[in-house]
Amino acid sequence: MGNDMWLLCLLFAYGIGSISTSTIVSRVVARIDIREHGSGNAGATNTVRVLGLKWGLVVLIADVAKGVIASLLAMGWAHGTPWVVYAAGIAAIAGHNWPVFFGFRGGKGIATAIGVLSTWMLLPALAAGAVAVALLLLTRYVSLASLMFTILTPAFGVWFHAPWGAVAASAVIALLSIYRHRQNIVRLAKGKEHRIFHRQETRM
Ligand code: G3P
Repeated sequence: MGNDMWLLCLLFAYGIGSISTSTIVSRVVARIDIREHGSGNAGATNTVRVLGLKWGLVVLIADVAKGVIASLLAMGWAHGTPWVVYAAGIAAIAGHNWPVFFGFRGGKGIATAIGVLSTWMLLPALAAGAVAVALLLLTRYVSLASLMFTILTPAFGVWFHAPWGAVAASAVIALLSIYRHRQNIVRLAKGKEHRIFHRQETRM
């Protein structure tokens, strides 16, 4: 793969990630900017809070698809060059978090990470996802479940002998998600985190 091709691949992945579906859906469906409501996060969880479960699911599916599409395209283009596939997945998540088309104000990258990690390492992602879903049902804290998912995926990756590149790249995604959830972590520690089905119309 030539220099220009890998660069194109990463830019394309970043561009796909930058399609901020929650911002688009909130503008089209309710003529609002999701980033000015609820937690202010441009993601599926906040869409559930502000626009309801149906639109939240639409955003969730679209954001997961961004991660799958970016990873599969990179796999096709970067045949035999795994680091490009891993970098493209991280680029798609970075696009979701800091979208070039929406003033670099995006989400926390979890739905896109679900798509990326399931494509790279399905079994570790499924195992981490099962723990995260159980935690979500028990606590109704999406942030806690999200963090568990991204942190446990590389751990399960080691356990299931996933390729070292995938384990390392998924650890980078975990660090990125911890950084994006830093305010959630402070609220969780103080017992003040918002639960998913708590509708709020103004910014928290
Ligand atoms: O994926 C985002 C979720 O983990 C937290 O979202 O809106 O509660 O900050 P939010």
